[in-house]
Amino acid sequence: MKSIKAVIFDLDGVIVSTDDLHFRAWKRLAEEEAIPFTREDNERLRGVSRMESLAIVLERAARVYTDDEKMRMAERKNGYYRELLSTLAPDAVLPGVLSLLDELRKAGIKMAIGSSSRNAGSILQAIGLKDAFDAVVDGTHIAQSKPDPEVFLRAGDALGLSPGECLVVEDAEAGVLAARAAGMPVLAVGSAANHPDATLRAPALDHVGTKDLLSGRTQHPRPRGATSVPPASGG
Ligand code: BG6
Ligand code: MG
Repeated sequence: MKSIKAVIFDLDGVIVSTDDLHFRAWKRLAEEEAIPFTREDNERLRGVSRMESLAIVLERAARVYTDDEKMRMAERKNGYYRELLSTLAPDAVLPGVLSLLDELRKAGIKMAIGSSSRNAGSILQAIGLKDAFDAVVDGTHIAQSKPDPEVFLRAGDALGLSPGECLVVEDAEAGVLAARAAGMPVLAVGSAANHPDATLRAPALDHVGTKDLLSGRTQHPRPRGATSVPPASGG
């Protein structure tokens, strides 16, 4: 990896545990519409925009919905989600995040958020990290959602850095693909940790030390080590 000057973090599933809140909000909507929806289905919504998530939920619907109905359903789901977000507090920050942010800050590394969520501002406020990042690019700033690279390219631009100087941290397949399409190395965590396009992998951020992250070393003692994988052929 080139010398890394910034880390761009995905928000949901990387910085904060909102997965269950998204699931409960989609589940409530799906039940009202008598559409089957499981936690496994919910995995497919990771990193994907609200409207694209709705399209996935509706794959199992018994009828076709008009565009107007879809807009209202997405708003309804967001209302349910925001009700649940009102309970969000700093204890929802995932293990290892605060110490990693602190270490990166001390090492002079810039930090940004690159999220598909249009609720990113409220979430950062609720978990007490509103001022923790040098740039926040979210679903309100982009035209194309992950796996399109737009969100990460905009975050790199906002930091004044080239893609090769930014490392992305992602928990979603769509996000890993977006980072690679942006020309950025990516640490894949959680359910994306086995993704073949990942540059580095770790079960979660509490397994990652700053030095490991910035050096991209190949082997680290467990449990504090991101394990790097060989670059994909041709890349
Ligand atoms: C992503 C989540 O961060 O944001 C997705 O991983 C979600 O599951 C997307 O659909 C959009 O979120 P929001 O808050 O704009 O509905
Ligand atoms: Mg995510």
